[in-house]
Amino acid sequence: MGLPRHIAIIMDGNGRWAAARGLARHAGHKAGLEAVRRCVEHCSQRGIEALTLFAFSSENWQRPGAEVARLMGLFVSALDREVDRLDASGVRLRFIGARARLSARLKSRIAAAEQRTAANRGLALQVAVSYGGRWDIVEGVRRLAGECAAGRLEPRAITEQHVAGALELAGLPDPDLFIRTGGERRISNFLLWNLAYTELYFSDRYWPDFDAASLDEALAFYGERERRFGRVA
Ligand code: FPP
Repeated sequence: MGLPRHIAIIMDGNGRWAAARGLARHAGHKAGLEAVRRCVEHCSQRGIEALTLFAFSSENWQRPGAEVARLMGLFVSALDREVDRLDASGVRLRFIGARARLSARLKSRIAAAEQRTAANRGLALQVAVSYGGRWDIVEGVRRLAGECAAGRLEPRAITEQHVAGALELAGLPDPDLFIRTGGERRISNFLLWNLAYTELYFSDRYWPDFDAASLDEALAFYGERERRFGRVA
């Protein structure tokens, strides 16, 4: 196998990275943002087509209010500071997830960043915020049910292509490589539909420590896999 076209990452371990240094959790999220910048640059340089990052899950709303507020603030300031550079390097930025739950301030920054980078043809960067794999599937099912109720789609005619096309990652190839840092070996309600045949890679490193060399290790792991998609070799 060569390079993956699409990489999906659960960036776990920011809090433990901070605790190990006697710092507050937010310091870990800030260091995590630095790691995001390095990762995006490295993926762009290596010619990866698409990168999808899990920044905030549907379940993360249950964290203490102060941590949620600081994370949301970090997303706003990240957009303010990074969009020029992302745009200049040809990145097309999109957010996936339940946008209705986000603040008006964050929503307007997201809309502006998406609009500004929409025509870019470099790395397709998806940031999942307020995202859950089950939420994504439920939204897609609702959309298809609406099409059926309106008489534009026959229930019996629904195919995997219809379902895939109704999800947040519609139009992108499924992730070839999934990476989770921080030592846990779970999918944690990330891209449930899209990860069906994805190669899974787990790293014990905390996300802020996941550098270009770590990413290259994951790419080397992928390079050695033989993907059969249920067929024989
Ligand atoms: C998981 O670590 C990380 C998060 C919930 C936040 C991820 C956010 C960033 C990396 C920064 C911003 C990113 C973008 C794309 C703007 P954790 O808090 O669960 O760590 P722990 O398991 O050690 O407690």
